[in-house]
Amino acid sequence: MLVTGASEVLTCAAPADAPGPGAGRIPGGAVAVGGARVLAVGTEAHVREACDCSAAAVVDAEGCVVAPGFVDAHTHLVFGGSRVREYAARLTRSREQVEELGIQTGIMATVAMTRSEDADTLFAAASPRLDEMLAHGTTTAESKSGYGLDVSSELKLLQVNRRLHDSHAIDIVSTFMGAHDFPPDRPREAYVDEVIDEMIPRVVDEGLAGFCDVFCDEGYYSIEQSRRILEAGLAAGLAAKIHADQYSDLGGGDLAADLGTVSADHLNFTRAAGLERMAAAGVVAVLMPLIDFAVGHPKPIRARGWVDAGLEIGLGTDLCPGGYSVSMPLAIQFACRWNGLSPEEALRAATVGSARACGLEDRGSIAPGAIADLQVWDVPSLEDMVYRIGHNPVRSVIKNGKVVA
Ligand code: NIG
Ligand code: FE
Repeated sequence: MLVTGASEVLTCAAPADAPGPGAGRIPGGAVAVGGARVLAVGTEAHVREACDCSAAAVVDAEGCVVAPGFVDAHTHLVFGGSRVREYAARLTRSREQVEELGIQTGIMATVAMTRSEDADTLFAAASPRLDEMLAHGTTTAESKSGYGLDVSSELKLLQVNRRLHDSHAIDIVSTFMGAHDFPPDRPREAYVDEVIDEMIPRVVDEGLAGFCDVFCDEGYYSIEQSRRILEAGLAAGLAAKIHADQYSDLGGGDLAADLGTVSADHLNFTRAAGLERMAAAGVVAVLMPLIDFAVGHPKPIRARGWVDAGLEIGLGTDLCPGGYSVSMPLAIQFACRWNGLSPEEALRAATVGSARACGLEDRGSIAPGAIADLQVWDVPSLEDMVYRIGHNPVRSVIKNGKVVA
């Protein structure tokens, strides 16, 4: 396949330390794809010289932008039921007032609704969410368990992840997050032991996840509990992620740096010293403006501080029952206007940065040898896409070298 006629190709292949933010823009560029991989990228003349395109199917991008498929670095896309009543009621009321109305709130409300649904029902609800994500340019998505909080329910969620990965164009990066909350029916330390002694071994034996994540925050997992769980995951072969410092300053960023987690996500309360330590340890910081918007977060991220600290940044929708958006374009639009990233920084976060947050080196940029996950936008430039707030620019999506949407 030869993609030509783009207004610009955004390769996202420039190194992070290059001058400028590095979206790797090629005005009027072209891309050649062979099988599932990118063969060549550059000006059309360069691409035609680099490979024999005589038998290629030519795709005319008609003056549109060509970019790498998005990697959504953080979702909770498999869950039972709906929290729409909570969301609507919380727009004008406190959490306490909403509970007085008899509406259950938060993670535990979803845990009850998730435990009571079988795998087929959970799969049937998650699959159209993935369709919508694909229509918004996402070609790889991370997906966490964490609404089961017992052995069989956590395994059920991860088995749904596997089915989604096998049946859908989007690749799923599966994360075990038994430490998302505490089940109320037993002592907290006993549950931490269950996560470590029963869940992690089963997850690893059955090959159901590549990552282990914990919700490290006031009222949730302490630094010590988080460390124990993530270290147990690492010892068993699960790479580490952490929900850090979303609502309080427990020092989750420092723990991420100590353990060398692949990513640390949220980070609303992480101080500059913690951010710098994370950068030195190579931890990718994952920005999620849409969840902060959905919960009316009191402390939205000032992401200039992340850039100044030298962090590689990833971007996620944080699609979850508490904040429902599938849209990486919207996340980019917010990351720019609300969090202070430049368009090139935000695009890089949504592609190559997020791929690194998921431990993936083979995607996120348009470069020879990379997986051919591409998208075409119906706008003339990256800046137009950032400017048109709420617009979904995605006109077509190519996954593993094939047009899928
Ligand atoms: O990433 N921080 C913890 N978990 C989710 C929210 C989960 C929910 O509201 O169900 C998050 O923001
Ligand atoms: Fe989350």
